[in-house]
Amino acid sequence: MYLRNVEPCDVETYIRMRCDPAMMADLGGPLPREGIAAKVERDAAEAAEDTSWIKMIVPDETRPEVVAGTVVVWSHDSDGEPLSEIGWMVLPEFQGRGLAKRAVRALLERARAEDRWGLVHAFPATTNAPSNGICRSIGFSFVGERNVPFADRVIRSNHWFVDPRSLDSPPQPPRPHRASDPDESPLSVASIVGRETRAAGLSFAVKQPNKRDR
Ligand SMILES: CC(C)(COP(=O)(O)OP(=O)(O)OC[C@H]1O[C@@H](n2cnc3c(N)ncnc32)[C@H](O)[C@@H]1OP(=O)(O)O)[C@@H](O)C(=O)NCCC(=O)NCCS
Repeated sequence: MYLRNVEPCDVETYIRMRCDPAMMADLGGPLPREGIAAKVERDAAEAAEDTSWIKMIVPDETRPEVVAGTVVVWSHDSDGEPLSEIGWMVLPEFQGRGLAKRAVRALLERARAEDRWGLVHAFPATTNAPSNGICRSIGFSFVGERNVPFADRVIRSNHWFVDPRSLDSPPQPPRPHRASDPDESPLSVASIVGRETRAAGLSFAVKQPNKRDR
């Protein structure tokens, strides 16, 4: 699996994610198709500027044309303060394989590697069992319930947050020993994550607050 920036060609995936009754069941029902292409254009520009991280999930590196969903981190104002938020969606045929959890985890690890975004909040609907499962199993802390505006509706949501710097490091595969190794110390997690970040062609810069809806 890898993550790439959203591009203008991702309109069909956005329509499948946002205009489908099952995909939007916990988010107040499907959104109209009108405006989706413009939304993708805006998101692609925002991702290219690195204002927000708006990533498409590509499950198979050998088939980059197949996209399974999206994971997004952005910043917006909440009661006059900037708040970093993460959200995710995975299309039905890719659900139940742990993809959403891996994608969320990967983006949070990049947040840790870049030391960007500070505390990251999530607001899954109280009825959304898999999304709340993702928060729980990644190690988010539960704050409580609250009403959250989304598009033209209000969603009863659970409020979770995580400090990416406090994430457990995933186990690394053992490295073969070479006689020429200068020492026996394992590669640092920071260097591994940094290398993966560069390998994925991702670069991250300045943070800017923007709107809540994604
Ligand atoms: C929510 C969604 C992203 C989950 O995607 P997914 O790839 O199927 O999720 P994963 O396979 O990574 O599973 C995530 C966790 O939820 C758990 N889970 C999955 N379905 C569950 C269910 N019905 N009840 C409880 N837990 C569930 C999994 O066991 C896993 O936890 P674990 O690793 O501790 O076992 C996907 O269902 C989706 O896009 N739904 C529609 C849009 C949406 O609701 N987006 C989220 C808005 S906040």
